[in-house]
Amino acid sequence: MTETKSKRLLILYATQTGNAMDAAERIGREAERGGCPASLLSMDEYDVSLLPLEETVVFVVSTTGQGDTPDSMKVCWRFLLQRNLNRHWLEGLHYAVFGLGDSGYQKYNFVAKKLDKRLSDLGAQAIVERGLGDDQHPSGYEAALDPWSSSLWRMLNQMNPKLFPDGRDYVISDKKFLDLPKVQIRYHAADEVNLQYLVGSGLSCTETEIEKARSMSPGRFSGRHTRPDCFLKLVKNHCLTKAGCGKDVRHLEFNFESTAIEYDVGDVLEILPGQDPEAVDAFLERCHLDPESFITIHPTKQDNRIIANGISASIVPIKLRTFVELAMDISSASPRRYFFEVMSYFATAEHEKERLQYFASAEGRDDLYQYNQKERRSVLEVLQDFPSVQLPLEWLVQLVPPLKTRAFSISSSPSAHPNQVHLTVNVVSWMTPFKRNRAGLCSMWLANLDQERFTLSPTTIAACHPHWTWNWMCSISWFCRGKSHSKSVYMDCSYHFLLWLPK
Ligand SMILES: Cc1cc2nc3c(=O)[nH]c(=O)nc-3n(C[C@H](O)[C@H](O)[C@H](O)COP(=O)(O)OP(=O)(O)OC[C@H]3O[C@@H](n4cnc5c(N)ncnc54)[C@H](O)[C@@H]3O)c2cc1C
Ligand SMILES: Cc1cc2nc3c(=O)[nH]c(=O)nc-3n(C[C@H](O)[C@H](O)[C@H](O)COP(=O)(O)O)c2cc1C
Repeated sequence: MTETKSKRLLILYATQTGNAMDAAERIGREAERGGCPASLLSMDEYDVSLLPLEETVVFVVSTTGQGDTPDSMKVCWRFLLQRNLNRHWLEGLHYAVFGLGDSGYQKYNFVAKKLDKRLSDLGAQAIVERGLGDDQHPSGYEAALDPWSSSLWRMLNQMNPKLFPDGRDYVISDKKFLDLPKVQIRYHAADEVNLQYLVGSGLSCTETEIEKARSMSPGRFSGRHTRPDCFLKLVKNHCLTKAGCGKDVRHLEFNFESTAIEYDVGDVLEILPGQDPEAVDAFLERCHLDPESFITIHPTKQDNRIIANGISASIVPIKLRTFVELAMDISSASPRRYFFEVMSYFATAEHEKERLQYFASAEGRDDLYQYNQKERRSVLEVLQDFPSVQLPLEWLVQLVPPLKTRAFSISSSPSAHPNQVHLTVNVVSWMTPFKRNRAGLCSMWLANLDQERFTLSPTTIAACHPHWTWNWMCSISWFCRGKSHSKSVYMDCSYHFLLWLPK
């Protein structure tokens, strides 16, 4: 068995909302910088029965629901729990576990803890004590990841120096080189794509645009299908709270515009929020991007993970503006630390470069947290604060946080309201420490939807293609059945996207 063991470092991650993947990618980058051959895979892309053939594996896993494994880990976890696996099954395997969780939950980092225990019970040997990242920490999970990854590389170097053939460990303190981007962008002439683009009309074509954008996005929507299943139309938007009470809770009613989907009370919808078109314009202008250009996004050779996630060679070009609107969160989510590191390489003003390098360093982590996360600064705002930085589109596509769907519990009964779905939405807004007003992207966008503007017949839907205004749309899926699980709504479930479409 020992002869056939893999000589690479395998990094396996399981994520529900993307954080564990970010953390795993960081470990992958550090390995690469240390000259250590590494593969990065989501757990559902790996055949776990092959684990005994691995020499060194790093697991990065989050906890979801009420102490539950992310969806992408379920099959793997079931396999590991089999009784016929004995305590020698993983002998010879060296492993490390980093967990992402939130100490506000009763079952804090439950998945990482039970995975660590199970691997050890099966005979594997821990390289370092498991690390536990906590959302409650002022610097988030990175506060634990920084020291944990330092110990990991130190221990790994001692235990298995062959993994570092260049003879260096991972620490490259002066960070002299920039990693290669994981994606490459191809531009397509308009006359080359016009025909393809105009084929088809109506909702199916809109679905295709959404699917194109979200499947071209590098790896972020892995494990979920990207095509919306159904379209919804807003018919009522009614405020339930009194003016001046400090809260804004909405009752929203939607009609099924295309296929009706069966659901039960308590099931959950996912909504893809629209983005402010002015912010999209400002982003395109700030980054000197042509909104009318057509692009396709391809993995670079190095990134086997993206290939595994299915960006196919047959992808059809998409308008750059449409891609930004549907797949890149430019005006709401805060960028990650790596964004600041990459920006520092492209800063041409010395003072900006210095500031960005400081933010990207371990010493600057807390100041970055105050400037970035605590203020909920968006990508657009950060780019505007560092005007000398001109990031190439490859890097923007890779690093801008993906536009995520938001979950909402259905508050209607299908027997009382056939062909409709109702939501009760609390509109999120708050003031930052620097007294900036911030609002939740999706809840505020839903609250501002006006049903009068958007009543329409299917014929007007067809007529408006392909000049959609994307921020008028919402795509929704319900992804879980709440019934047999009293508290957690995250369960094995089917995904259905619904899309409400205005005039
Ligand atoms: C299974 C499930 C079911 C749900 N059902 C419902 C439902 O029925 N109704 C409903 O209204 N919501 C529901 N939610 C929550 C919903 O999914 C969204 O998270 C919520 O609407 C906020 O999304 P947003 O896009 O408006 O805000 P985002 O743009 O995502 O911003 C939210 C973020 O803002 C920050 N934030 C918010 N308030 C503050 C503050 N005071 N100080 C500092 N930072 C702050 C936090 O970082 C927070 O993560 C549900 C969530 C889940 C997981
Ligand atoms: C719906 C939901 C349920 C969660 N349940 C738990 C939990 O039971 N225990 C825990 O430690 N963290 C819990 N968390 C926190 C997540 O683990 C944490 O936010 C983590 O960073 C998410 O990582 P991911 O993006 O890779 O899924 C929960 C988060 C959400 C949104």
